[in-house]
Amino acid sequence: MQFRTRAIHVGQDRDPATGAIVPPIHVASTFVQPDASMTAAYDYARTASPTRGGFEATLAALDSGTRALAFASGMAATHCVTQLLAPGDRIVTGTDIYGGTWRLFNKLLTGHGITITAVDTTDIDAVRQALSHGSTKLLWIESPGNPLLSITDIAACAEIAHAGGALLACDATVATPALSRPLDHGADIVMHSATKSIGGHSDLLGGALVTRDAELGTRLHWLQNATGGVMGPFEAFLCSRGLKTLELRVRAQSATALGLAEWLLAHPRVKTVHYPGLASHPGHAVARRQMTGGFGSLLSFELDGDVATARRVVESTRLFQLAVSLGAVESLIELPAVMSHGSYEPAARRAVGIADGLIRLAVGLEAFEDLRDDLAAALA
Ligand SMILES: Cc1ncc(COP(=O)(O)O)c(C=O)c1O
Repeated sequence: MQFRTRAIHVGQDRDPATGAIVPPIHVASTFVQPDASMTAAYDYARTASPTRGGFEATLAALDSGTRALAFASGMAATHCVTQLLAPGDRIVTGTDIYGGTWRLFNKLLTGHGITITAVDTTDIDAVRQALSHGSTKLLWIESPGNPLLSITDIAACAEIAHAGGALLACDATVATPALSRPLDHGADIVMHSATKSIGGHSDLLGGALVTRDAELGTRLHWLQNATGGVMGPFEAFLCSRGLKTLELRVRAQSATALGLAEWLLAHPRVKTVHYPGLASHPGHAVARRQMTGGFGSLLSFELDGDVATARRVVESTRLFQLAVSLGAVESLIELPAVMSHGSYEPAARRAVGIADGLIRLAVGLEAFEDLRDDLAAALA
């Protein structure tokens, strides 16, 4: 089955009791057992529940995995991966990563005895060098990266991680399974903030991990059950519904984002545009290899002007709303330095290339012409 057919039919069986074409939302927290041996498919909803299980089955089938685990948020999913490590272990991470991930790694895990080494993961020699520390147990990448839309070669990172005895985890929130499936390129774990394109309508928080290796999937499920940050049934229902239109939404958003990136590139007030769909983007060739059907809904740009100018622009669009997040039907605009990536230390943020005046756009499903005119008015 093709991607969009799987999105509609896998894990979403009609209700056998009523024939309802949409599976019901199971809200039960506990399940009556036929006997005391606890061998029924469901016993307690933190461990497994039918509505969450349906979403997990669909997502695993879309992401080339054998198992998916749904969490209360993307950060809960990321945190679960880090629970595979022990004090003394090291995480090698990209520099162009979501601010909340940076905060978890650098401000929380370091206090628990985990060492963090940040490298530009678009530089494969730098990744190899960083992995030469024997203590590295996890290589964490984000591709496309956020907010600079850097492209990391997933297959090359998988080879380096595995040669060094480490796991490769890829935050594929920006790409979504509709455009990129990191497990096909050798990643061990894929992470999604389901809050973004999977939910797709700015009305839920969720996260997910997807694996192919059965043992790793079982280990992560054990950690998820032990720590408890699971997705609730209403969110799981909305995520299942979101997956059914994911490919259509993401392809349409990608086409609009490419159009806007090209338009911005030609605008006299714009200094730089970061979008992997542009031939001028340094990661374009790798992106073409590991993404299909588009380059995603996220882009960023810098103006020829100071921070105050950038601030005026993000505060004056009318369709692009001033808010963090991405992947929903509404287009959003923000200043990463003080919004989505405000948890970075300013010096660390500038060192990795996230300028104070960088503007990030999350393109929604409005018409290209309306979004372009909105930006044109704000830039005038
Ligand atoms: C790329 C990326 N990864 C992870 C997260 C964290 O996800 P959540 O907000 O669902 O915890 C976000 C949230 O903005 C994100 O953009």
